[in-house]
Amino acid sequence: MILVTGATGVTGALVARRLAAHRVPVRLMARDPRRVGADVPRTETVTADYADPPALRRALRGVHAAFLVTNHPTAPHDAHFLGAAAAEGVGHVVKLSAAAVADDTDDLLTRRQREIEEEVRAAPLSWTLLRPRAFMSNTLAWAAGIRAKETVGALYGDAPNTPVDPRDVASVAVRALTRPEHRGKTYTLVGPQTLTARQQTAILGELLGTPVEFRERTRQEETAALARRHPPHVVAALLQRADLQAAGNKRRTGDDLERLTGHRPHSYRDWASDHLHHFSNRPDNQDGHSQDGRNSRDGEDGRQSMTA
Ligand SMILES: NC(=O)c1ccc[n+]([C@@H]2O[C@H](COP(=O)([O-])OP(=O)(O)OC[C@H]3O[C@@H](n4cnc5c(N)ncnc54)[C@H](OP(=O)(O)O)[C@@H]3O)[C@@H](O)[C@H]2O)c1
Repeated sequence: MILVTGATGVTGALVARRLAAHRVPVRLMARDPRRVGADVPRTETVTADYADPPALRRALRGVHAAFLVTNHPTAPHDAHFLGAAAAEGVGHVVKLSAAAVADDTDDLLTRRQREIEEEVRAAPLSWTLLRPRAFMSNTLAWAAGIRAKETVGALYGDAPNTPVDPRDVASVAVRALTRPEHRGKTYTLVGPQTLTARQQTAILGELLGTPVEFRERTRQEETAALARRHPPHVVAALLQRADLQAAGNKRRTGDDLERLTGHRPHSYRDWASDHLHHFSNRPDNQDGHSQDGRNSRDGEDGRQSMTA
């Protein structure tokens, strides 16, 4: 049995979809299983919160490998999960970390990711660490603005990044969950191109067949947007990461993805073509879209800043 956490989130759902092809029993973990998409394949669903170690032990009973996604900036969720996994005799954990861990930054979020990686390495089980760059799906945060006003607003329009398709991250996660040769390995997962927010906006405009305006936010505007959703210490960390990107520290490309999956990683154009319906009000963009990704037509402002 493989346990997939974060089943209501981006990567967990994609991992579950790919595991279905492996004919291995899959248990999805969620705080509220009703929020897991009906189209996400599973053998079983279990209710558990990282804050509740006894529930984690029940969730991990009979599990041989687990995919671990956490996103709290300070709570000891990984420690709880790893303790429960060790107690239940789980053999292998694939942990979703972040490429920022190897960056020259000491912001709160990156420091926490580094501590979590240490906890994983110290746990009495085998592990694989996945370090993706910013998910291409973060640009779904722009969808509402594009649908309403054909405009994208973001900080640092010309700051380079190497965004990765979460579907490629999920493909590596599945290999790490099902094949022993990935034990004890750390993989940096970056997309095939260095891109800026302005260039991503232009690609969306081309695909939509209509120009989309990019409006660079001032630091004050970005701070205010982030402060609507995060406490001050998280806002400070996110701005620090954005500054690092503007300084060019996130432009490094790499070949882990291609080497591991045997195919060229999806480009941003690929991802955007498959998710165009989120950005469009036109009925001809609503049909035949890929189910393989985040399905909500969300426009939550500012997700682009949660880069890695
Ligand atoms: N987005 C990026 O660009 C990016 C890039 C690199 C690395 N990462 C890393 O990827 C991770 C996030 O992955 P994601 O984007 O796939 O996830 P996500 O879409 O942000 O969803 C987070 C998942 O964690 C679950 N969760 C949160 N708190 C929980 C709790 N207390 N107990 C049980 N489950 C809980 C959520 O469940 P609920 O539905 O119950 O809230 C949800 O399923 C983070 O560690 C982030 O640092 C992200």
